[in-house]
Amino acid sequence: MTKAIRIDEFGGPEVLRYRDVEVGAPGPGQIRIAHKAIGLNMIDIYFRNGLYPIGLPSGLGSEAAGVVVAIGEGVDGVEVGQRVAYASPAPLDGYSEERLIDSGLVIGLPYGISNETAAAMMLKGLTSWYLLTRSYRVEAGDWIVLYAAAGGVGLIATQWASRLGARVIGIVSTEEKRTVALEHGCEHVLLAGDDVVGRVRELTGGKGVAAVYDSVGRETFYQSLDCLRRHGVMVSFGNASGAVEPFAPLELTKRGSLYVTRPTLWDFVGERSDLERGAAALFDAVRSGAIHIDVRQRYPLADAATAQIDLQRRATVGSTVLVP
Ligand SMILES: NC(=O)c1ccc[n+]([C@@H]2O[C@H](COP(=O)([O-])OP(=O)(O)OC[C@H]3O[C@@H](n4cnc5c(N)ncnc54)[C@H](OP(=O)(O)O)[C@@H]3O)[C@@H](O)[C@H]2O)c1
Repeated sequence: MTKAIRIDEFGGPEVLRYRDVEVGAPGPGQIRIAHKAIGLNMIDIYFRNGLYPIGLPSGLGSEAAGVVVAIGEGVDGVEVGQRVAYASPAPLDGYSEERLIDSGLVIGLPYGISNETAAAMMLKGLTSWYLLTRSYRVEAGDWIVLYAAAGGVGLIATQWASRLGARVIGIVSTEEKRTVALEHGCEHVLLAGDDVVGRVRELTGGKGVAAVYDSVGRETFYQSLDCLRRHGVMVSFGNASGAVEPFAPLELTKRGSLYVTRPTLWDFVGERSDLERGAAALFDAVRSGAIHIDVRQRYPLADAATAQIDLQRRATVGSTVLVP
């Protein structure tokens, strides 16, 4: 028996149950991993509260790193004892001491990337990679707006964007987060309560930004559209304040023939070749020192509910890991 978090119903953090589970031997194509560190993400909360419906009962957790302890029939390229990490939505079982997973979903960890770093960055770093290179391809000199700039995705995306030469305007909720976002490469950081549109227009000489990366969702959608330049790209990639309501396409016409995309990581790493390309870019950036993965909170796996409460009440900065 090993321990894992399970949910039997949708709801608040109280639905997380820390239980004994039977993991079993890996089937064909599968491996069994003993987790060393597990990444905490807002998406775990969307699955927990039913915003993203899943079959119940279920595990939770889409990001982790650990050691391979057994391999199934037909597994190629992964060995017992190897360190691996993953960012994967199905099946959800990252919040566990040990789990089975399809071997095609994991990436071997190179020297120089610790288990904790990997668990803190696989999902958030791959997200930063596709947001900045695929959803809108950031070019040197572009102004961009990035919400939750001191968060898990935020600190990685800020560093990545500034490395690409972008001029990043971060948005955060507190002075403390403002300082951290500035230290990680934002050129300006606004507080959520500021006149965001007015300040963005002022900073960009009245033009607006090339892209807004909005993970807040419902509360900020129109504010974000108002920050864009003509033909600007609205990348709506999260629901921290709730899901964006339906809107009329004419809202895009009125504001300068804008583009809107609502992407998810899984569409950018679904092919093994894309996953390997993204992971290679992320590992290079981290091993070269260009991007630092800032793990600022650690909780025992058994305290996953407390970790989720802190993430949801905006009390965390950078990445958070659960330790099995
Ligand atoms: N689409 C994708 O592929 C994808 C992949 C990964 C993550 N995401 C999204 O990216 C965002 C960041 O994820 P993360 O796991 O790294 O979390 P995080 O940024 O570490 O934490 C969420 C942050 O959102 C901000 N926020 C603004 N309004 C909020 C509200 N009403 N309630 C709670 N937080 C609020 C807070 O920062 P301030 O206090 O500074 O406002 C908070 O710290 C999430 O929205 C997530 O869903 C999307």
